[in-house]
Amino acid sequence: MSKNFYITTPIYYVNDVPHIGHAYTTLACDVLARYKKSRGYEVFFLTGTDEHGQKVEKAAQAAGETPLELADRVVKRFQSLWEKLNIENTDFIRTTQERHKEGVRELFRRIEAKGDIYLGEYEDWYCTPCETFWTETQLLDGNCPDCGRPTDKLKEESYFFRMSKYQEQLIRHIEEHPDFIQPKSRRNEVLNFVKEGLRDLSISRTTFSWGIPVPGNDAHVIYVWFDALTNYITALGYPHDPDGNFAKFWPVDAHVIGKDILRFHTVYWPTFLLAAGVPLPKKVFAHGWWTVEGQKMSKSLRNVVEPNMLIDKYGVDAIRYFLLREVPFGLDGDFSHAALIHRINSDLANDLGNLMSRSSAMVNKYFDGILPEPTAADDMDKPLLDRIPGTLRGVDDHMDAMAFNKALQLIWDLISAGNKYIDDTAPWALAKDESLRPRLGTVMYNLMEIQRLVALLIEPFMPDTAQKMVEILGIDPASQSLEEKGAWGGLRPGTRIQKATPLFPRIEQD
Ligand code: ME8
Ligand code: MG
Repeated sequence: MSKNFYITTPIYYVNDVPHIGHAYTTLACDVLARYKKSRGYEVFFLTGTDEHGQKVEKAAQAAGETPLELADRVVKRFQSLWEKLNIENTDFIRTTQERHKEGVRELFRRIEAKGDIYLGEYEDWYCTPCETFWTETQLLDGNCPDCGRPTDKLKEESYFFRMSKYQEQLIRHIEEHPDFIQPKSRRNEVLNFVKEGLRDLSISRTTFSWGIPVPGNDAHVIYVWFDALTNYITALGYPHDPDGNFAKFWPVDAHVIGKDILRFHTVYWPTFLLAAGVPLPKKVFAHGWWTVEGQKMSKSLRNVVEPNMLIDKYGVDAIRYFLLREVPFGLDGDFSHAALIHRINSDLANDLGNLMSRSSAMVNKYFDGILPEPTAADDMDKPLLDRIPGTLRGVDDHMDAMAFNKALQLIWDLISAGNKYIDDTAPWALAKDESLRPRLGTVMYNLMEIQRLVALLIEPFMPDTAQKMVEILGIDPASQSLEEKGAWGGLRPGTRIQKATPLFPRIEQD
């Protein structure tokens, strides 16, 4: 079994500054990357920016900058947000980098050499915001069927990719690889689309110049989606592979994207790869769409949720938790401040925070902060301890299925069981009877050991909180093997337990 894991976000357009939607995709990838690392995988986690095309050229003109000046400025916004959101990406690719441009030209040349690119003429309706061509019949009331905005009639000489040639091969691939496109509803959507018939695809433009020139004909620039999609292999070094990353990490384990760009990733990209003789991605997962307080997020509505502001106000881990807990990955969701505050108060301050502050306070009060030895087991321990193997296994399964909300739900069931254990065992009553001291010590040990496991399980989601927890518990996770970490009994009696300050202060609603 291969112990390598390659995961990617879309590369984001630099004509827009990052918002909660971009943060969502990148966060999901970060959680999976951290999770796989914690399971001993070598992980390559890629994100970056999509800097060519008419949309960026126009935005730069409007801002009175060159496209590259605009890109340099906006890229910093993305990079600083990822730092602030605690994103541990391995690489950051920009499509204006030479390593990328060279790989794109080479992919183009290889497909051309195969006979799958030809020069023709194009006449169709173009939606600039979506950088997509539509036929007359695809338009909705003359507008783009995806975004509803007006389209322009364009006639130009263009290079075409023989996408139609790969229709049957793509259908077969999708049918033979049930996991290739997820969730399942998206897979059916794509299959139906492909079965309706694939046209050849225009893959060059002559009406603007901000892009990678077509090899051998610089009157044309390469279509921005051909350029952008190729980032997933140029970042690994394709076609040269100087560091061996392409051989090691391709095919990618998961392209994580929003449902808006499903077709590009499951029709265009795989057919380019088939033509070039490059293996196809193992999985494309399209998550759902966030609205804000019931409305579509848009600059004109001035309701774009700015992640920096949220992180400053509520803390990075609260935001990381909320985004992945609130909505099943794959479904649409609505962002509201009320829902965020509710989650922080009930799940984080109340359930998780209270468990830690109550139990660490008791170890300090009854045992001067020194973790006692567990000696006197009781039937009352069973419901708590029996829950652990199923939780560990269940979290694994849910993470592999990208069911983040279900993984978190299971972890929180364990936290609730921990709180219930305090109520059921009533340590304050045990403390009154000196002869019950061994039992009191066992209860304290079980409580702290449960929280060691909780810290381990939440680490991919809330790395700072997990770190605070292991500091309170006085352990150094680096000193433990994977097996030791996942097994009961990792905490050593005699360890000094800190008295916890609240992990998450309650938010008062105004
Ligand atoms: O499409 N809800 O870039 P982009 C959820 N450059 N996710 C959202 C979202 C929302 N409201 N808004 C944005 C592009 N996203 C191309 C990609 S890849 C080779 C090229 C996320 O800046 C989601 O992941 O428009 C979506 O697919 C992506 O941002 C689009 O980012
Ligand atoms: Mg977009």
